[in-house]
Amino acid sequence: MEPLENKVNVMPRIGDQAPDFEAVTTKGKIRFSEFAKGKWTLLFSHPADFTPVCTTEMSGFAQQKTKFDALNTELIGLSIDSIHSHLAWVNNVREKTGVYFDFPIIADIDMKVAKLYGMLQPNESETAAVRAVFFIDPSKKIRLIMYYPLNVGRNMDEILRTLEALQFSDKHGVAMPLNWRKGDKVIIPPPKSLEEMNERLADDSCERVDFYLCKKEI
Ligand code: BEZ
Repeated sequence: MEPLENKVNVMPRIGDQAPDFEAVTTKGKIRFSEFAKGKWTLLFSHPADFTPVCTTEMSGFAQQKTKFDALNTELIGLSIDSIHSHLAWVNNVREKTGVYFDFPIIADIDMKVAKLYGMLQPNESETAAVRAVFFIDPSKKIRLIMYYPLNVGRNMDEILRTLEALQFSDKHGVAMPLNWRKGDKVIIPPPKSLEEMNERLADDSCERVDFYLCKKEI
């Protein structure tokens, strides 16, 4: 992993190695490169503790934790708040709603991690992180990035859907069409030579629109 100093204010991109950092979290100090070894990671930010949309989103992550566990995925949140604020908010939400944020939340009070991951987008806010989600695979490569503004909450179904799609694509070497959900047909890679094209045109085992667009069930 590249050192922090080289990466500040550079927006990470799909395919990049996830930048490394050390941070204080609600579950103790972490070094990100040591976090969730052998697992997928969802690193997500929220603008601020004790705000309404953020409370619904963080509760959504907490309520789906067993699904993320089943998908071999660790959750880790972040906001530009102190650890004291995080602890008070986690406790308050538990008291008021019974939902417990049982995953680490980074206290990024110096904005170090937010800047490193392009979560601080000054034309949206100079002090609060936007709503980002980084999907990071077990080799610590960034595979998918979502950025949402301050005033629109994310969609948990879409987060789970895209995580499943990434894992299914890796496992089977296929691609996912519009609105794909687990159980739907998948797209098989298009041919790369005339020979493969002719084979595909003679292959009646897949649902074929033409040689470059064929679907099958897995
Ligand atoms: C919210 O989570 O409700 C929120 C946070 C920051 C700005 C706007 C809304």
